[in-house]
Amino acid sequence: MTKKLSTIFLFIFFFSFFSLSSKEKFTIGFSQCGQRDNWRLKMESEMERELLFHPDLSIIVKQALDNSEMQIRQIDELMNMDIDLLIVSPNEINPVQKAIEKVYQKGIPVILIDRRIDSESFTAYVGGDNYEIGQFAAEYIARKLNYTGKTLEIQGAQTISAAVERSKGFNDGLDKYPDLINVYKIHSFWNEKIISDSLPSGLKQHPNIDAIFAFNDDLAINAVEVLKKNNYSSNLIIVGVDGLPTPNGGIEMVENGTLTATIIYPTGGKESILLASKILHGEPFEKYNSLPSTIVDESNVKITRRQFQNISELQTDINKSMNMLKILNGRYHVQQVLLFVLAVLFIVMIVLLVMYLSANKKLKQSNINLEKQKNEISSQNTELLRLTDELEEATQAKLRFFTNISHEFRTPLTLILGPLENMIDSADIPERFRMQVSMMHRNSLRLLHMINQLMDFRKIENSKMQLHAANYDIVDFLREIITSFSDLAEKKQISLLFDSEKSSLNVWFDYDKLDKVIFNLLSNAIKFTSVNGTIKISLKVSKPLINKIWNQEIEIKVSDTGSGIPTDQIDHIFDRFYQAENSSGNMGTGLGLSLSKEFVDLHHGDINVKSKLGEGTIFIIRLPVGDKHLTEQVKIKSSGNRPVGHKPKRRDEIYINPVLDNEEKNIEVDFGEKQTILLVEDEKDVREYIKDSLNYYYNIIEAENGKKALDLIREDEPDIIISDVMMPEMDGMELTRTLKNDLKTCHIPIILLTARASQEQKFEGLEEGADSYIPKPFNSKHLQIRVKKLLELREKIQERYKGQLLIEENDSDLSKLDRKFLNKISQIVEEHLEKEELTVEELSQRLGLSRVHVYRKIKKLTGMSVSEFVRSVKLKLSLNLIKTSGKTISEIAYEVGFSSPSYFTKCFKDQFGISPSEFEKGK
Ligand code: FRU
Repeated sequence: MTKKLSTIFLFIFFFSFFSLSSKEKFTIGFSQCGQRDNWRLKMESEMERELLFHPDLSIIVKQALDNSEMQIRQIDELMNMDIDLLIVSPNEINPVQKAIEKVYQKGIPVILIDRRIDSESFTAYVGGDNYEIGQFAAEYIARKLNYTGKTLEIQGAQTISAAVERSKGFNDGLDKYPDLINVYKIHSFWNEKIISDSLPSGLKQHPNIDAIFAFNDDLAINAVEVLKKNNYSSNLIIVGVDGLPTPNGGIEMVENGTLTATIIYPTGGKESILLASKILHGEPFEKYNSLPSTIVDESNVKITRRQFQNISELQTDINKSMNMLKILNGRYHVQQVLLFVLAVLFIVMIVLLVMYLSANKKLKQSNINLEKQKNEISSQNTELLRLTDELEEATQAKLRFFTNISHEFRTPLTLILGPLENMIDSADIPERFRMQVSMMHRNSLRLLHMINQLMDFRKIENSKMQLHAANYDIVDFLREIITSFSDLAEKKQISLLFDSEKSSLNVWFDYDKLDKVIFNLLSNAIKFTSVNGTIKISLKVSKPLINKIWNQEIEIKVSDTGSGIPTDQIDHIFDRFYQAENSSGNMGTGLGLSLSKEFVDLHHGDINVKSKLGEGTIFIIRLPVGDKHLTEQVKIKSSGNRPVGHKPKRRDEIYINPVLDNEEKNIEVDFGEKQTILLVEDEKDVREYIKDSLNYYYNIIEAENGKKALDLIREDEPDIIISDVMMPEMDGMELTRTLKNDLKTCHIPIILLTARASQEQKFEGLEEGADSYIPKPFNSKHLQIRVKKLLELREKIQERYKGQLLIEENDSDLSKLDRKFLNKISQIVEEHLEKEELTVEELSQRLGLSRVHVYRKIKKLTGMSVSEFVRSVKLKLSLNLIKTSGKTISEIAYEVGFSSPSYFTKCFKDQFGISPSEFEKGK
């Protein structure tokens, strides 16, 4: 807004300033013909003076020095200088005329001054009337001579208009008086020699001449001098033209008696400028502007001279005033510039002031807003702090509760573990339960381990975790832990290697805590390394970094050839509760590595990880050697190689829950009388548990994920599938979707078993085609019943099918694919009705399925063999024929492809319970 205003303001100001100073200017070109004699100087000074009153007019003057050629050139030059108007005093009529016409035709106004051309191609003329001047002279001489006498005429050059006109006027004037005769004419230019030669010769021819008329005063004075030289009487009347008031000019010569009279010939300098101004400004003007002339002789010479003097004084005054004006104009101009600068400064100041005020206003407003925001933020902060405190308090309370509960869990867990261990050791428990008992034992230990981790975490949280360091042999320590893992590693066919630079090395550390760290790293390594992999623990001593206070440190590396950690997860691996997603499926609590880091930190050491996906992982622990970094408080006394009461532990799959591939491969599959259940579950213990509750009644085959399940189904088709949902590689949903969308497998009932118990998930599972959905934790009895019911349903469908010709479109007990399948077979049978035997090959070709699959599928859905099934379809079709065709039973028997009517009757009775003729009667 301010910017806009100031721009408009400045624009108006500049516009008015420049419009004042930029009134249109005109250039006048002036071509002066003659020598710079006094008369022409007077003309020019008159012009100059007049120009002072016309600041919009400027003039360029060119002097032709009585040379017509030069004048033509100069007129041309002026024309090309883009003049707005030409004032020209043509030297001679003819040569210059063309040049003047050219200018006029170009549209440039032309003012002729003093002299004329023989053409009308000019804008205006200004100057004395030379014809009248000639007549004045004749009249004056006539009066003086009493109208009788002889005259001699000294003419100007006859190529000049002024000279021609004056001479004509003089002669015409004399012609009025018959006694006055112009007896002699001297053709002169301005050349003195001509007069000194021709005047005496003229006088010789006409000795009684009374008067001489000369073209101008200069020639007249010249004539007087020639007369004096030749001793002629001085009472001759001599008349000249011009009447200049200058020294030796016409006026002075009349006053001192040299000349009898002079005719004032006005130069027209001033008038030409006035006329030019009028033309240029488009004001009205006259084309012919004759200036008046006066005769000056002894009768009026004095008064004339005084008048000229007065005029000259006035002109001097005017000149002075004009000079003064010039100075004042200069000052005015400077002041104008100053004023302009001041005005600009003023405007800038105003603009700045406005800007300052508006900025100030904005600043104040934003300060107020800022203050408001500050207050809001501070009140939000207070609120936030309060909420944080509350949250912290709530979290602490929860954690306290959680820890207390966890703590409380330990006693019952110990009470469970004790009896369980007794049961395991006892030979009395039946073999059937031994596995379940050992599973209970393993999982109780797992629970205890997790609770211990949680307690450690709380201690660290509350800064109550204390280091209890002593100087132990770390080589011995590591060897002991590694040995404790050897059974497990062997079971998983993993090479477990230990490589130490030293055979023994004493380091200050907390036995229990470092044990937990190494245990955690090793159990992770075992968990994520598959069969034939390698886990290596190495120990070496290295120099520490310069800024550390100890001068040696040890480096323990635990490397494995396991699955590796994805790069996007590696930065979070030591974060609390962070659970890296891993293909092995066991996700743990997310506390192990975080605790390990805390424990290493307590030792003033550090722990790092490097990993490459698919290649393996290396954990590096660095611990300082010596005890400079430890306070006395954290040191404990130790007499041996391990703390008092510490027993070496046997590490087994309690904590690790590994999936043992080799075990799985050895599963025996018995397809005897029992139906087969395929159990798909990644947690081995859960598998064991389910197996335990079902293997008495069914054959159980196992797979640890959906993918492996699909491989098994391809080999041997189970009667029913129980599958977990959340599994690595292929989850239960995908497995269900794959099976239910394949004609070969869509009839197999599927029970989904999962902890994801929400309604939506249940619907999702059913949507995929699952036949049942049992949420975890489940009751084994519930599972048994569900399996039984689903298998019974399958049998019922088989039964029902026997009496049904076409499967209803909305038969919800069968999948869409199965309905289509059965209807398609019925159609094929109908097309080949007369054929006694429709082979499996023919059917499999038409259905696009292998023979085995056709056989298996028909058996599963109907409980019949292919030929039994084809026969039953034919019999069903015969029902219709008996009812509507009017044919005999025998005819119908052949028509539906039976070899004999008696066999047809037997089969009919077997299938429908009545004979065909009985059916015909009752129709
Ligand atoms: C000056 C002059 C005058 C004369 C006029 C005629 O150069 O010779 O004496 O009157 O020119 O054009």
